[in-house]
Amino acid sequence: MSAQRVRVKSSAGIYSIYVGEKILPQGLAAHLPAKVPVAMLVDEGVAALPLTLAIFGWLEKRASRVVRVRIPAGERSKSVDEYGRVLRQLAGAGLTRDTWVVAVGGGVTGDLAGFVAATYLRGLPVIQIPTTVVAMVDSSVGGKTGIDLPEGKNLVGAFHPPKAVLADLRWLESLPEAERLAGMGEVIKYGAIADAKLFAAVAKGRPRSMAKVIKRCVEIKAKLAGEDERDLKGRRALLNFGHTVAHGLEGVSAYAGLRHGEAVAIGMVVAAHLSVKTRGLKKKTAEKLKAAIAAYGLPVTHPDLTWEKLSPVMARDKKATLQGIRWVLLRKIGRADLVAGVTEKKVCLALEEVREGRPPKK
Ligand SMILES: NC(=O)c1ccc[n+]([C@@H]2O[C@H](COP(=O)([O-])OP(=O)(O)OC[C@H]3O[C@@H](n4cnc5c(N)ncnc54)[C@H](O)[C@@H]3O)[C@@H](O)[C@H]2O)c1
Repeated sequence: MSAQRVRVKSSAGIYSIYVGEKILPQGLAAHLPAKVPVAMLVDEGVAALPLTLAIFGWLEKRASRVVRVRIPAGERSKSVDEYGRVLRQLAGAGLTRDTWVVAVGGGVTGDLAGFVAATYLRGLPVIQIPTTVVAMVDSSVGGKTGIDLPEGKNLVGAFHPPKAVLADLRWLESLPEAERLAGMGEVIKYGAIADAKLFAAVAKGRPRSMAKVIKRCVEIKAKLAGEDERDLKGRRALLNFGHTVAHGLEGVSAYAGLRHGEAVAIGMVVAAHLSVKTRGLKKKTAEKLKAAIAAYGLPVTHPDLTWEKLSPVMARDKKATLQGIRWVLLRKIGRADLVAGVTEKKVCLALEEVREGRPPKK
């Protein structure tokens, strides 16, 4: 087992994230007490993989009992219905307060399982085992859990830091290429907001070491989430670069049209155009960001990029306040700010430019 470790500060104490090869299932031993009941919530997309079966086999030996719950693949599982179904399955199995939740899957399973753990019997400990790039670099870290409503994404949730996160790179071998690329959208995001070197490295093409890239993203997330766990100081909100429009697009398509990372990719292009108009971002830098996104085969435009379609959903964005939508915008690569008071006119222009594939204008 070779793993790199990143520590994250949280209100519930410090927890560790391990990134590496072959860290499962034995890496669980340091975190999961013996002889407790375990609810293993598993993403359907990985349920039959040998690594999942190895984890299940290991848990069966370690735990007093293991209740396995399959989570159907796709964003629709982050719903009130699916949340209720899982809770009822745990209650039906008679799981008690000493139960540990082990979440195995992408961000959808991690967010749902985390929220189940935060709320079932008023809270159970959870270990996150992320299986996608998005889940490894982002959703498993920082303790945000939750589900969507038809009215908007992530509108119901809880802060519930995990006890540990074990990111085993072998999951990426079975990950479909489109999901891997969607994850690279989030990686580009980290570079854009916080690390010009990371951006330059990924903009050059497929990284040679995913372990290094994932670890660096986790470090950035750990720092921002550690400084502002509850998302109240405007630090953690920087992680939402590209997400205002992304959540709008996902809401408009009822979570069926685009992968999260793809929606974020388009959202980053819009935010870059808006940054040119309001933050003095160089046009050439906005174009560089767009080129890096496109180089990973990610979308850089969408027909639904109109104020009429997106503003009702964007207004419910969790960064929105009484002063309106707050945008994460760039001054340069590696330097982002949370910005209020961007005029509707400028947003409309940015949306139009991106929808029509035009370069940004000041
Ligand atoms: N909590 C947070 O801080 C946070 C941060 C970022 C994203 N998110 C959430 O994460 C979700 C997106 O997560 P995602 O991009 O991981 O998508 P996902 O969870 O939908 O997984 C993508 C697809 O890949 C499959 N899959 C997962 N791992 C696999 C593997 N190793 N091999 C083969 N198939 C595999 C899944 O079954 C699914 O079909 C969104 O709901 C988003 O809101 C949350």
